[in-house]
Formats: sequence, C-alpha cells, structure tokens
Amino acid sequence: MAEQKLRAVLVGCGTISEVWLKASAEIGGLEVVGFVDLNAENARQRAAEFGAKNGLVSTDLEAALRQTRPDIVFDCTLPSARAQVVQTALAHGCHVLTEKPMADSLETARQLVAAARQAGKLYAVMQNRRYDPNMRRVKAFLDSGRMGALTTLNSDYYMGVHFESFRRQQAHILLLDMAIHTFDAARFLIGANAVSAYCYEWNPAGSWYERDASALAIFEMSNGVVYTYRGSWCAEGLATTWESAWHAVGQRGSLKWDGAENIQAQVVARTDSMLSSFDDVPLAGETPRPFGMGHLENLREFIDCVRNGGQPLTRADDNIHSLAMVCAAIQSADSGQRVPVVA
Ligand SMILES: NC(=O)c1ccc[n+]([C@@H]2O[C@H](COP(=O)([O-])OP(=O)(O)OC[C@H]3O[C@@H](n4cnc5c(N)ncnc54)[C@H](O)[C@@H]3O)[C@@H](O)[C@H]2O)c1
Repeated sequence: MAEQKLRAVLVGCGTISEVWLKASAEIGGLEVVGFVDLNAENARQRAAEFGAKNGLVSTDLEAALRQTRPDIVFDCTLPSARAQVVQTALAHGCHVLTEKPMADSLETARQLVAAARQAGKLYAVMQNRRYDPNMRRVKAFLDSGRMGALTTLNSDYYMGVHFESFRRQQAHILLLDMAIHTFDAARFLIGANAVSAYCYEWNPAGSWYERDASALAIFEMSNGVVYTYRGSWCAEGLATTWESAWHAVGQRGSLKWDGAENIQAQVVARTDSMLSSFDDVPLAGETPRPFGMGHLENLREFIDCVRNGGQPLTRADDNIHSLAMVCAAIQSADSGQRVPVVA
C-alpha cells in the first residue's frame, strides 16, 4: 500500500532544526513544505540547505500555515515561544511535534495539552533519548526482573559546555534545558512518575554561565523508587555522556551504564556469607548510535502514529510528568523545601 503523503512546516530554523530536517529526509512520504523563523535568514538558509526549491520561507507562522495547509508542524523554537507556536499550529488543524521542554511553565503545558485534546490532534515532544538503543537495552534488563525490583536509581551528568546561545543567561538553565532529558529518561527507566522533589541549585565559582549551571536533586517516585540526579554544565574534564552515567540498584543485583556502549550488570549468585557473590550478566553489545541522538526514531514513531493512529511514547500528556519534575526541582531549589511533584 502506498504511504500516505504528509506535509510539514518547520518553525524555528536554528541549531537543532538541522537534525530534524536530516531525520525528516529519511522518512518516506514526508515533505517539509515551509520554513519559518523570526530571523528570515535562518529560514532561508535551512530551505536552501535541504533543497526545498518550492519550500515556503516565512517569518510568520500563521501566514505560512494558511498558505501551505500542512498536516504537521515541527516546533524547534525556544520554550518561551512554545505556547504561541503550538496554539497556532493546533488552530490550523495540524498535529504537532515540539522540541523539549514542552513549555516554560506547567500552566502553559497544561493549556497546550488541553488545546490538543480539544483539537483532536497528536501533540508530542522530542525526547529523543528514549529511543537510544542502549537506553532501551537498560530498560529491558530492568523490566526483566533479573536483578529484582528496582529500589534506587542514580544519574550523573557532568560536562563543561560553552554555549553561545540563550543558555548563558537563562535562569534554571541546567534543569530546564538539559535535566528534562535525564528526568524523562529516569521516568522511562523506572516506569513511574515522581511524587516529591528536593533540589539544590547553584552556579559554581568561576562559572561562565550567569546562573544555575549545577544542581543536585532527590525524587521519590510513585512506586517507592528513590531517584537522584547530580548535574553540571560547568564541569571541565572527565565528562559523562549527554545521556548521563547511571547506577541502578535492585533487590538482587545492580546495573551500571556509562550512557554510551558500556553496560555492566551483576545479580546475586549466593548469599551464604557476609558479602554475597555475584554473576556478571553480559548485556552490552556494539550498537551503532542512532542518527541525531534518537531524533529519527522519535520522528518516525510520531509520523507512524499520524498515519496509523495510536499515541507516541513521548506524547505531551505523558511528557508533562517530566516537566513537572523540572518545575518541582526549581520550586524546591527556590524555596529550600521538599515539594510535591504535581503534573
Ligand atoms: N532534543 C535535543 O537533543 C535538543 C538538542 C538541542 C536543542 N534542543 C531544544 O531545541 C530548541 C531550540 O534550540 P536551538 O539550540 O536550536 O536554539 P537556537 O537558538 O539555535 O534556535 C532557535 C530558533 O528559533 C527561532 N525562533 C524563536 N522564537 C521563534 C518564534 N516565535 N517563531 C519563529 N522562530 C522563532 C530563533 O530565531 C532561532 O532561529 C530548544 O527548546 C532546545 O532546548 C533539543
């Protein structure tokens, strides 16, 4: 059966749009027919790079949607523009796939979820790390029960990242822009939402960020698992991967994952002395990294749901629980109190 032809307009032709457009080109029957950015030159450049001879270039999303009448809007703008972009796209009858974070506040996120529900359109978020093959391998092992029920999950994310962008000035930048990936991955691996958060956030001495480049957070999850996060964008040397380094403890074993190809797991073999003995469980395997950190698979699943029905793994009404972790961490850091996590 011939693939249903789908047309998309991409709004926000900045850095990450290149990854989206490369991924889109891999998906049969999907055409990007419009390139929108407040900065016309960015839109023109992306249209030219991706050979869209007939692609519309515009600084006005509303006008572009009226003119091209696409099925889908890809939103690669900044969180502060999300509400306006998503509302406009839904009002024009489009399904929407948006970059993370899905909004700059929970209130906005709730309004956008409600608007999508009312419009009867798919609305999902690019949480590409859920599609990383090694993330999937770790998840499959945790779900297999071989190390017993999970009790504790730790993640470490340390990098010295010298952005030349909005990230240098924005408040809570590590939590909003990066930890959203890690928190979402934690929800995915644990299979539960957070119920409480305690967070300490600071800007380390010598930081090249204006504020909030480091954070520590503790979450209690609805199934009793305790998840801890340590992270910094201002940590030179011995970098973790973008996916973070993970340590998972179960009732009968543990798993460590460096966020790349290296996964180690041990399960209890005998417990007849002070320290148990363990069996190593082989679990790693060379896997080519997915194109664009998982963007292609995230996009492919979204397009598949547009064509055939169903809801993508990163649908917004579920992803709001990851944003709720970020917002609760920020609230906790601001108040110095442990706070409930409410989506
Ligand atoms: N999923 C990932 O792995 C990943 C990686 C990098 C960035 N991101 C996310 O992607 C988003 C964009 O990041 P970036 O690094 O490409 O930023 P960027 O600053 O390079 O690009 C943003 C673009 O959006 C345009 N823009 C802003 N508001 C607009 C509006 N209202 N209408 C039209 N265009 C508008 C800007 O002019 C700019 O060209 C952010 O939310 C970021 O967190 C995700």
